Amino acid sequence: MATFTERMGPVLLFWLGLCLSGTWAVDKGNFKTCDQSAFCKRQRAITPGESPYRALLETMELTNTKLTLQLINDNNKVRLLLELYRLQGNITRVKINELKPLKPRYEVPDVLIREPPTEPLSLLSQDENGVVLSLGAESQRVIVSARPFRLDIVEGRDVLMSLNSRGLLGFEHLRMRKDTQADPEADNKEATDPPSQVETTKEEEEKVEDGMWEETFKSHTDSKPNGPSAVSLDFSLPGVEHVYGIPEHADTLKLKTTDSGDPYRLYNLDVFQYELYNPMALYGSVPVMLAHNAQRTTGIFWLNAAETWVDISSNTAGKTVFGKMLDYVQGSSETPQTDVRWISESGIIDVFLMLGPTPREVFSQYASLTGTQAFPPLASLGYHQCRWNYNDQEDVRAVDAGFDEHDIPYDFIWLDIEHTDGKRYFTWDPHKFASPKEMLQGLMDKKRKMVAIVDPHIKVDTNYKIHNEIRSRGFYIKNKDGADYEGWCWPGSAGYPDFTRPDMRAWWAGQFAYDQYEGSMENLYTWNDMNEPSVFNGPEVTMHKDALHGSWEHRDMHNLYGFYVQMATAQGLIERSGGVERPFVLTRAVFAGSQRLGAVWTGDNAAEWDHLKISIPMCLSLGLVGISFCGADVGGFFKSPSSELLVRWYQTGAYQPFFRAHAHLDTPRREPWLFGPENTALIREAVRQRYTFLPYWYQLFYHAYQTGEPVMRPLWVEYPQDPATFALDDEFLLGRDLLVHPVTEEGARGVTAYLPGKDEVWFDIHTFQKHNGVQNLYIPVTMSSIPVFQRGGSIIPRKLRVRRSSACMEDDPYTLYVALDNRRTAEGELYIDDGHTFNFEKREFIHRKFSFTNNVLSSVNLEPDAQFTTKSWVERIIILGASKPSKITLRTADDQENQLEFDFDASMSVLTIRKPGMNAGADWTMTLQ
Ligand code: NOJ
Repeated sequence: MATFTERMGPVLLFWLGLCLSGTWAVDKGNFKTCDQSAFCKRQRAITPGESPYRALLETMELTNTKLTLQLINDNNKVRLLLELYRLQGNITRVKINELKPLKPRYEVPDVLIREPPTEPLSLLSQDENGVVLSLGAESQRVIVSARPFRLDIVEGRDVLMSLNSRGLLGFEHLRMRKDTQADPEADNKEATDPPSQVETTKEEEEKVEDGMWEETFKSHTDSKPNGPSAVSLDFSLPGVEHVYGIPEHADTLKLKTTDSGDPYRLYNLDVFQYELYNPMALYGSVPVMLAHNAQRTTGIFWLNAAETWVDISSNTAGKTVFGKMLDYVQGSSETPQTDVRWISESGIIDVFLMLGPTPREVFSQYASLTGTQAFPPLASLGYHQCRWNYNDQEDVRAVDAGFDEHDIPYDFIWLDIEHTDGKRYFTWDPHKFASPKEMLQGLMDKKRKMVAIVDPHIKVDTNYKIHNEIRSRGFYIKNKDGADYEGWCWPGSAGYPDFTRPDMRAWWAGQFAYDQYEGSMENLYTWNDMNEPSVFNGPEVTMHKDALHGSWEHRDMHNLYGFYVQMATAQGLIERSGGVERPFVLTRAVFAGSQRLGAVWTGDNAAEWDHLKISIPMCLSLGLVGISFCGADVGGFFKSPSSELLVRWYQTGAYQPFFRAHAHLDTPRREPWLFGPENTALIREAVRQRYTFLPYWYQLFYHAYQTGEPVMRPLWVEYPQDPATFALDDEFLLGRDLLVHPVTEEGARGVTAYLPGKDEVWFDIHTFQKHNGVQNLYIPVTMSSIPVFQRGGSIIPRKLRVRRSSACMEDDPYTLYVALDNRRTAEGELYIDDGHTFNFEKREFIHRKFSFTNNVLSSVNLEPDAQFTTKSWVERIIILGASKPSKITLRTADDQENQLEFDFDASMSVLTIRKPGMNAGADWTMTLQ
């Protein structure tokens, strides 16, 4: 038996090393630059304008739905196969693979929700230089040029996007290793293997570079048994100066050019003390980029789960406004253009060109491929109280009671890794959490819930059932030699289940059954952390790329691991309820499609003002690529926030989708009431504001679930023609109707918010003051200020009677905030269901539309075939920008008429209608005379 220090030594050393590493800064030396990543370096070295690829037009085959064509690399004679599809909804898909690879190359499974439906393609013209095809109904064409190969997508006279226009297509074909020392069988193999393109290549003449067959970084050697296998391709975007997306990076919303530094990296990593405004990889990778200008929005979805780097360059980058003007005056202005280049370590090129033209259409195109945001339980949109760690049941009880004592609502209290029996997930520390059901029942009595962490690294311990079962079923990922892969993580030596296997996921899901997960109850939900996966003693703190998932290398699907962990967990929570209850699972690692599975947070930030600021572009970037349910640790994970920072963070977090406070084990306690009564009051007010808006949040999430539109969105999504909205990092919209400019500067006396829309008016939600659109509005602030504006033209339902938790507010009445626009009209929606089951899929819900026009406010059923009853009623209607009526008459569905009481505040033009009293699910009209 190993002693405790022998077993825990590496973990302790690792953690100690990190903690002692001095000031707060990422240790960049732990992570590769492009130059240190052999494939990135090789691909980045390809010279533009010298593409060796030629399209072999004589090989072209065109069916109704698919074009195939061979490409040849004239340097080595290796042939590729290009497939082009027109997909429904204005999407074009381009796949490029080797014509005859030595063995199959990885194609990402499980991310697309179905085989995307195609539309007809037809040939318009053809000669020896290329072919022109018509792309469906949109008057779009694709021009395939043969020599060198390039693809242009054209609409009318505009080029929307060009592929390989800079000649950077790179496709490293699989090959036999010539070095017989490393593969003594190689010569024999070549003789006996079926004829392949290896025979026809001039491979001997190809340079064997360092890092092709083996690569060492720090103390880790990657054995690369398959040799070089990178793919890369360039895309030109004429007319585009703004590109967004490719999260996760701690960087601005508008992506920067990468000419003078490293490309943006997509490789799921556990980066300790991540640095801001930096293209380094973080926990998640979503290979989707959006391009926007005042005329059009498009998107590129690069479906590849291997390590990926993205270069961005622009012909106008760095030009000042003056410089651009000078160009214009001198007539020398060139069309702005952004060029991007994607580089992945393995797999194939499989790219979806989402051709918009509006932002909404791009969201819907992407949703048609990878699905929409999971519709979360209503309670998960409330406030979450977390810390590493709540120490024991008594601690949980006391914190829970603290919320009641200080009259602060919350829905979930969280338990981090210390709640387990020695970091064995699915267990409880027998002393600190001796009766978990009692604890959960206590919360349930108050209509509150709990989240417990379940990480994917499994303690190697023959006394641990979970480990024994995974091992005996052969479910662990294997190392390159075929033994179970082992790495260090919180429990010491750990195995990593192969979540890419459907049978493993099914087994894992089964562990959440109430009779398997002892101590669990229906108000216990799950947090999947460390699922990049984090391996403390692995290369770049993650898994060795030559580890094996069956016949695939970890290299091929690294960025998918966390997605699968969350998938299996969400499945478990669904199954334990017999398919009735919606799951809630928080994940740290994400990939394209993760939106279908739950929520994500931005990992280990710090209690610093810049970290508060970056939470906005980080969540906006995730939202743009479908992942709406995003938040950052409120208060900052590392370090200790000043009370000012903590208050400002609550105020910001209250208006971000996932609202959870969290803190590192070594930080002083910071429950909301520990900073003096004034700060407690400020935090209480922020959290209560959140709860009053829960009906609006819920409706926005229902909408995101239906359409894929982001809940928290950049202003340009709603004002796509206004360049002033294209690069804002300090304000955002929730849906269309709330504009939030939180205070994120220390000592701020005021903020300047940009209010968009030349025909819009915006109402301050606190003072009801009205402001015109298209202005930079200076707003003086105090510590209690959260600058938020409601758009004139909108109706927002709120619940003003805030209680202990969202569930306690279920039957409470609504207040409708009707903000009139310049035409004295407004509209909005209300969505109600039971808040937690999948019964909404059986159309058990209420979905209503409110409209105000010609002085008549009405509520109509948006989905008459849906059925649900609610006890909630409308207790108040507040009309902003109103004039004084002489009387107000309510007419209900049974033709009853009632005169209603009201107050009118002439100084602010606010009309308050008291106790109209209709059921929230009823039809009615209200006439103002
Ligand atoms: C890392 C996570 O990012 C953090 O939130 C958590 O508290 C620790 N792991 C411990 O589980």
